Amino acid sequence: ATLAPFIAGLPKAELHLHIEGSLEPELMFELARRNRVDIPFDSVEAVRAAYSFSNLQDFLDIYYAGANVLLTEQDFHDLALAYFRRSAADSVRHAEIFFDPQTHTDRGVPFQVVADGLLSGMAAAEAEQGVTSRLILCFLRHLDEDAAFATLKMAEPWLDRIIGVGLDSSEVGHPPSKFQRVFDAAGSLGLKRVAHAGEEGPPDYVWQALDLLKIDRMDHGNRSMEDPALVARLASEGMTLTVCPLSNHKLCVVDDLADHPLPSMLAEGLHVTLNSDDPAYFGGYVNANYQALADQAGLTRDQIVQVAVNSFEGSFLPEADKAARI
Ligand code: ADE
Ligand code: ZN
Repeated sequence: ATLAPFIAGLPKAELHLHIEGSLEPELMFELARRNRVDIPFDSVEAVRAAYSFSNLQDFLDIYYAGANVLLTEQDFHDLALAYFRRSAADSVRHAEIFFDPQTHTDRGVPFQVVADGLLSGMAAAEAEQGVTSRLILCFLRHLDEDAAFATLKMAEPWLDRIIGVGLDSSEVGHPPSKFQRVFDAAGSLGLKRVAHAGEEGPPDYVWQALDLLKIDRMDHGNRSMEDPALVARLASEGMTLTVCPLSNHKLCVVDDLADHPLPSMLAEGLHVTLNSDDPAYFGGYVNANYQALADQAGLTRDQIVQVAVNSFEGSFLPEADKAARI
């Protein structure tokens, strides 16, 4: 029997979602018109046709260009609300969303515009859809440590509304060690810590994320599977991994979803979750990620339930709330 209706109705949390990566071409065009920003495409179809990537950097180049249409508080509000409406249709009840302030502040858009716009979209979505959310500030790892510290400083007035910090952008050549001090500072401020690791980078970057950045949750983590001692460490710590199969396929991290590591991760006792990463660019929201692995990697109904339970357990909701949400 098809698992589609079961997946569709299953309550879930999304823990790996870049809000700038939820900018659909239709909204990109609307914002370009509203803000009189030039975009290098003639049509929504031309934008979608350009979304063919051979690696992470290929994608990042077009993703940062797309973000140029985001200028006002209203734009960030609209972006967030559109994501929550779309993901509510996938039975997402809670989401912990990443944002990349440096992508915007480096273009002259004030941190305040980005943060207040996103927070107001999140509040509107909670009122309208009942979906709860948290904000995670990501440092761009292709930029330097000083820039990350400056971003953390800029965020100070908002830290009561930001649950944690993350690390994203170009992985290879930018090891977690580069950000050890800023992650220490974030930890001292009471922020949770997460980091992209082992997406394209080697298992050593995953060890560094654990030992140097002291992460509370791991984003991707695919290449951990190359190192049995690392797998044992992640299992014994009960570390949550936020896995993104459609992203992995589009970015050529895995050649074939039939060979996706998620079933092996489950078999090794890892606390894996399923997420959409940048759904406007990778061709599917969270349910499409569940469905792709059900169809192509043989994910069973019981495994699907386990992954959805993991998504609440691995969230940064208060412990007392988690059980009530599952
Ligand atoms: N920024 C947005 N999506 C990303 C990904 N999959 N890896 C690293 N940085 C990103
Ligand atoms: Zn990501």
